[in-house]
Amino acid sequence: MKNLEEQETSRETRIMDILENEKGSSFAARFDPVKGGGARRLTMIRESFIREMTRLAITHNAINLSQGFPDFDPPREAIEAAHQALESGGNQYTITWGTPALRQAIAAKMQRWYGLSFDPDQHVTVTCGVTEAILATLMGIINTGDEVIVIEPYHEGYLPAIVFAGGVPRFVPLEAPAYTLDLDMLRDAFNDRTRAILINTPHNPTGHIFTREELEGIAELCREFNAVAVTDEIYEHIIYDGHPHIPIATIPGMEERTVTISGLGKTFAMTGWRLGYACALNPLSTILRTVHDFMTICAPAPLQAACAAVLGLPDEYYAQLGQDYTRRRDKMISILQRAGFSAHSPEGAFYAMADFSAWDFDGDDYSFARWLPANLGVAVVPGSCFYGTKGMGKKTVRFAFAKKMETLQAAEDRLCG
Ligand SMILES: Cc1ncc(COP(=O)(O)O)c(C=O)c1O
Repeated sequence: MKNLEEQETSRETRIMDILENEKGSSFAARFDPVKGGGARRLTMIRESFIREMTRLAITHNAINLSQGFPDFDPPREAIEAAHQALESGGNQYTITWGTPALRQAIAAKMQRWYGLSFDPDQHVTVTCGVTEAILATLMGIINTGDEVIVIEPYHEGYLPAIVFAGGVPRFVPLEAPAYTLDLDMLRDAFNDRTRAILINTPHNPTGHIFTREELEGIAELCREFNAVAVTDEIYEHIIYDGHPHIPIATIPGMEERTVTISGLGKTFAMTGWRLGYACALNPLSTILRTVHDFMTICAPAPLQAACAAVLGLPDEYYAQLGQDYTRRRDKMISILQRAGFSAHSPEGAFYAMADFSAWDFDGDDYSFARWLPANLGVAVVPGSCFYGTKGMGKKTVRFAFAKKMETLQAAEDRLCG
């Protein structure tokens, strides 16, 4: 096993590789906190490309299909419940783990949808979004040099979370075009330094929903290598064509070694409310709660009150959500086909990875993603920014379609007109 210094150096080398194309400033300048650099850990992290693409969209007055937020409102019930909470004194810190009502609602939801039993007093923690839940979990379980397996492409928040926690990412690719997981390749990545694996299903950016077989394969490795499964199930209710969403905590032997994380931002079109949660048995729950308490104290109090109400929405809400997103997904795929992209139809979530090889465009995904808003007025995200392995995703861009039908129609007019 390498000593810590060697591990630090090889981690840095790997991450500097990722940054190779992107650096505007020199390593030394970024490293100096007085001259504008930051702590050493920041040299491993680049600015979010998704935010950059959103800025480009604004500059060019482009339709923003880059960042994954809906351009429509949360359910009326949510807004009314938030108003009511603001008016009725729910404006101070809550218990750090979250209000009892919201924790009870989350525990009831986990039981109703997945048959998972969590004690709201011990096992459920309300966080400031999924982002915080993942960070609190990794900060709680990772020691310097521990490896965290990341299935790529991956959500861009994972790498900073691993780095902040002092971990080393180890990437395992999904296999295009259907983006399935090769379990032999995954086995090769597990080793005695593996502490955790991050599993995002339904998956951003590919739309893959992990099958029972894939999850059982992951579970077997977690048990064999004594690793923790940290999940990101934020798109659990945005699924198509009857594909079942299976939380890995339901696989035998996984409940005690899984932190199941999800959030309300996508299901209820409230990404700005910053409401997420983590469900885990002890000791994992106590561990992540300790970090959460000192990192954020609590999630926004009046919005927690509103979310407890929203989680009680009837099944019809979810049925309607499925129908609405299916229309958006079908529209997006037909736009991409008409515009000359090739794209695998997503099984879940609200993104499509589109290959632009057939376009008469001489450049990589970054130049394409900068060219598109300036010339056709549509903003997307370069595919390779979802990969840690150099060279992957270079002919793809990601489209987000959590948008009103008229927004998608306007994008079609620009891309195909
Ligand atoms: C897979 C995934 N995880 C987490 C997040 C962020 O979640 P939150 O806004 O709840 O922090 C996103 C946002 O796009 C996402 O796509």
